[in-house]
Amino acid sequence: MMARAAKSKTRPLPDVTGLTKAQAKVEHMRLALELEGHDKRYYQDDAPSVTDAEYDALRQRFNAIEQRFPEFVSAESPSQKVGAAPSGRFKKVRHAVPMLSLDNAFAEEDVRDFVGRIVRFLKLADDKVDFSAEPKIDGLSMSLRYEGGELVTAATRGDGAVGEDVTANIRTLEDVPQKLKGRNVPDVCEVRGEVYMTKHAFLALNERQKAAGDTVFANPRNSAAGSLRQKDPTITASRPLGFFAYAWGEMSAMPEGTQSGMIHWFERCGFKTNPLTKLCHSVEELLAFHHAIEQQRAELDYDIDGVVYKVDRIDWQDRLGFVSRTPRWGIAHKFPAERAMTVLRDIEIQVGRTGSFTPVGKLEPVGVGGVIVQNVTLHNEDYIKGIGNKGEILREGRDIRIGDTVVIQRAGDVIPQVVDVVIDKRPSNAREFHFPKKCPCPLHTDVTREETAAGEEGSRARCTGEFACPYQKIEHLKLFVSRRAFDIDGLGEKQLQYFFDEDFVKEPADIFTLEKRNSKLKLEEIEGYGETSVRNLFGAIESRRRIALERFIYALGMRHVGETTALALARGYGSWDAFHDASLKVARGDEEAIADMDALDQIGDTVIKSIADYFGESHNRGIVERLTREVEIVDAEKPKRNSAVAGKTVVFTGSLEKMTRDEAKATAERLGAKVSGSVSKKTDLVVAGPGAGSKLAEANKHGVKVLTEDEWLTLIGE
Ligand code: IVH
Repeated sequence: MMARAAKSKTRPLPDVTGLTKAQAKVEHMRLALELEGHDKRYYQDDAPSVTDAEYDALRQRFNAIEQRFPEFVSAESPSQKVGAAPSGRFKKVRHAVPMLSLDNAFAEEDVRDFVGRIVRFLKLADDKVDFSAEPKIDGLSMSLRYEGGELVTAATRGDGAVGEDVTANIRTLEDVPQKLKGRNVPDVCEVRGEVYMTKHAFLALNERQKAAGDTVFANPRNSAAGSLRQKDPTITASRPLGFFAYAWGEMSAMPEGTQSGMIHWFERCGFKTNPLTKLCHSVEELLAFHHAIEQQRAELDYDIDGVVYKVDRIDWQDRLGFVSRTPRWGIAHKFPAERAMTVLRDIEIQVGRTGSFTPVGKLEPVGVGGVIVQNVTLHNEDYIKGIGNKGEILREGRDIRIGDTVVIQRAGDVIPQVVDVVIDKRPSNAREFHFPKKCPCPLHTDVTREETAAGEEGSRARCTGEFACPYQKIEHLKLFVSRRAFDIDGLGEKQLQYFFDEDFVKEPADIFTLEKRNSKLKLEEIEGYGETSVRNLFGAIESRRRIALERFIYALGMRHVGETTALALARGYGSWDAFHDASLKVARGDEEAIADMDALDQIGDTVIKSIADYFGESHNRGIVERLTREVEIVDAEKPKRNSAVAGKTVVFTGSLEKMTRDEAKATAERLGAKVSGSVSKKTDLVVAGPGAGSKLAEANKHGVKVLTEDEWLTLIGE
């Protein structure tokens, strides 16, 4: 089958100029649903129900609508998902040696500590350790396996233990030799490094994508990822991707004894390595390297987000080993957050699920670290005035006004922040922002400022409309259908908003009665909606009628009851009836019920008050009652007391390959074990995976029983 993304670059976009905004919105929503369904059938089920040409036509129309109405684009839009195509598309590959990651250093002190730890660990009389200092390329790590000198597999990092097989695509990269050069190459060599796209190639690709009405990528890293995850390698071949080699996985023999030696060996084998890599002999040289690379950063044609220091001697690397999932012998020294200046055009108020107000700054779009930023959180009223959470002065007291030139900072994936206001550029017509006294919702309810735990006026403003405020209702519905709650496929934010605006869904129970009511609603007759999408939606809703207790409690959206708290409540009460009875009693002020709830692990006054407030409100009780008639709530598993590990204290260390650390912890706890982060005399069992370091040593010191991951799984009978 031909891949879908292969498109003629000159094909004009479908004409959508005849659509009104309202029509376009409905059509956009319908197409989003339809495309999601097709993507699932194509990527996950490998059973597409339309031809590539039909799919392309839908996608083109969808893209044309988004180009005409960019405000329809959201993080959920299918146009934004190419970089993270669903897994299941490529064969899975288990890495012979896990692909772990590096710890981060931000300050000079962190780097000095890192070197100090190494010197102490190796018990060196002096601090003479050589380091290979390398730029940290912001791309995708890749493991290339050569057998008998021939490339056999290329795999992405995945979760570190299992990645995706992208061999066919990687073969199209010029920088990746099909056959290793040189004689006497070890029989098995896994060469690891970073796949990246140059900045100029990224910009040119985006231009082409835009002209063809295709996905525009946010940064070179996303476009490299999107280019690699193509089913048709000819598309990858058309995308200019580079590869720098810097590490290795399984090696049947080590050709060199140092990191710098290995880098030269990679070059002799036919790889590119980063030309800025340098051997450093002291902390001062490392810091100077960091500084020098940072100075060059803007001029480099590829994105980097820091530098990496690695102990050069491999025998020392082996002795140093790993702590948890990061090596003791290496660290990433990150660059400070990137900044940019732009103009604040407006301030809007966003009302959250629990009625809290967040002022959002609408910016003149600006690129910061490869991402276009248009919105920025301004936190609260005080923050805009230049006052911090604890009453401290921010930005030397400079307030933020509409029309101001502001300095935006973005650190990694953290939400962008306004870090300063350029007063010299303040125009004479800059407007002070008057925080609303009324909710912007149609009810215009009063706004109060929340109290702090100490009973003082807090900085967060809140709408007092509670369940009567439509903004809060819709935000709750969004949480209700979200992945970690009811996880209803095909009921994204836009569809939900539409159903809400049309009065089809006003509260959670309505979602489950949609199908029954459809003889009246006739969703399939809504312009642009189709029978298939409606059928798919009903199917998705039906499949979610049975729900685990913890998810159900979380989905109610009570304040301060996030996933962890919901899980603690579910485990504590076991069944919905028990939890519901207790909550009604708590709401009535029943002291015994309050004391029982308080006795649960992780539950305190704030949560109890929130549950009491929620169930004290008859409107909420009605919502819950109508909802529980529609769904089946599955009891939580109470921790088992008769398992082989019940009552034992267990520590997991090193990298686990068959489960994530969270899964391992959850299973152990379900079986009645206590999971601890550190080893002591009281520890009963240590489960150690590859890379286990100090905890393993501690276990041996205290004579604690150590199991491999497989032995653990056998012990617990999984
Ligand atoms: S060495 C044990 N060297 O950074 C991990 N990584 O958090 C060894 N990266 O996943 C990795 N440039 O994708 C290493 N010169 C470099 C690197 C580099 C970029 C990435 C890599 C890795 C992440 C580490």
